[in-house]
Amino acid sequence: MSEARKIVILPGDGIGPEIIAEGEKVLQLVNDKHNLGLSTQTCIFGGAAYDEHGTPLPESTLNACREADAILLGAIGGPKYDTAPRDLRPERGLLGLRAELKLFANLRPALLYPELADASSLKHELVAGLDLMILRELTGGIYFGQPRGIEERGGERVGFNTMVYSESEIRQIAVRAFEIARQRGSRLCSVDKANVLEVSELWREIVIDVHKDYQDVELSHMYVDNAAMQLVRAPKQFDVMVTSNIFGDILSDAAAMLTGSIGMLPSASLDDAGKGMYEPIHGSAPDIAGQGIANPLATILSVAMMLRYTLNEPEAASSIEDAVASVITQGYRCPDIATGDSGEKQVTTVQMGEAVVAALQSGASS
Ligand code: IPM
Ligand code: MG
Repeated sequence: MSEARKIVILPGDGIGPEIIAEGEKVLQLVNDKHNLGLSTQTCIFGGAAYDEHGTPLPESTLNACREADAILLGAIGGPKYDTAPRDLRPERGLLGLRAELKLFANLRPALLYPELADASSLKHELVAGLDLMILRELTGGIYFGQPRGIEERGGERVGFNTMVYSESEIRQIAVRAFEIARQRGSRLCSVDKANVLEVSELWREIVIDVHKDYQDVELSHMYVDNAAMQLVRAPKQFDVMVTSNIFGDILSDAAAMLTGSIGMLPSASLDDAGKGMYEPIHGSAPDIAGQGIANPLATILSVAMMLRYTLNEPEAASSIEDAVASVITQGYRCPDIATGDSGEKQVTTVQMGEAVVAALQSGASS
């Protein structure tokens, strides 16, 4: 076997540790079963790290992440950190990690499991068969643009941020988007606000230019307000959407709800060499933390994405995805995806993790 590949695990805050525990069980099982030679190391991150070390991203955690092949993150943040100094809030730790590791490409797939169609807030026929991918630029735009701040101007306080993209940043994410579209339905919709924002005007121009090398992919453009409307009107029109950091943040939450629950959606954040951080797209859900009812499936599906996109273990990835589909077919439901149907078995976080493990184990003997 080749040298052990390192996975850094960042449980984080709120429900983070609970869902990560289930993701780890699944990772451990496929590691043994498929002989993947993975080693894991758990590091402190987010609010937990702020409490203990006074910073959300301690140097030791950053270094471990730099040396890792892949990172599995739970969730960070919580109301108790609202009053922490702005630069030391858990969210800044996450943004810092994304930036330090140059994880510019954020893949957020929204896939509907047929049995969960009734958990969606949209009508069955609008979402049945939904399978779309949002590609969000993750290390630029208004999240990182300078200048930013809150300052006194003319006798009152003014808050400001800057939405900025360089040509090379746009080109980089556009290339990745066309590549992903090619591997799917070959349709790419670029979402911007080019009717108002110069930064979007440039975005659109560069995307059109990159398209010259991908003529086999059908390219369309949509303003972000319309895209938000289309996502809840006719979401199946989309194959791949590519957009900026903040538009992607917003649209991916909306897309998540189409699938029944934000508790179902994994994500991958990749650099240009394929190294990645994997995390559920939902947050730390402080309102349900510690109750053992959080849905671990987005985290478990993030493990599958990690195996597929960074570790190049598609079989192990598919076995996890199949196991998740099978527990859903068997009727296991955490509260967020429960519809009250008689065939459902309401389960806790741990029971859901165990159901996936059992499905993986029975997959081995079949
Ligand atoms: C996300 C989250 C983060 C973001 C927060 C926690 C900083 O909402 O990953 O979508 O805005 O990127
Ligand atoms: Mg978000």
